[in-house]
Amino acid sequence: MTTLKVTDRDGRSHTLEAYKGSSVMESLRDEDMGIEAICGGQCACATCHCLLDEAWFEKLTPPGEDETELLESLDHYEAGRSRLTCQIIVSSQHEALELTIGPEE
Ligand code: FES
Repeated sequence: MTTLKVTDRDGRSHTLEAYKGSSVMESLRDEDMGIEAICGGQCACATCHCLLDEAWFEKLTPPGEDETELLESLDHYEAGRSRLTCQIIVSSQHEALELTIGPEE
């Protein structure tokens, strides 16, 4: 298990447990953090958008071309912070990953 530090849309902080090998989106959805994840993690809906702490953004594997295209189509896209949580697979490198649930589009 890995710990995630999540700020919800109301500004409340939560500490969640995430299974290694699962996506961050799955933990957020399971804990009812306001993530819809309509496409189920297929990188097609962007309803799992989050804003990462900037230091964390730099540490993660960069988003792929499909993810970047989808992110850039969002009204609330922030370069250097926005990620789709279905595209972040939890590993021990993500211990204490800090993120904020993206605003509703
Ligand atoms: S769940 Fe649809 S893009 Fe992430």
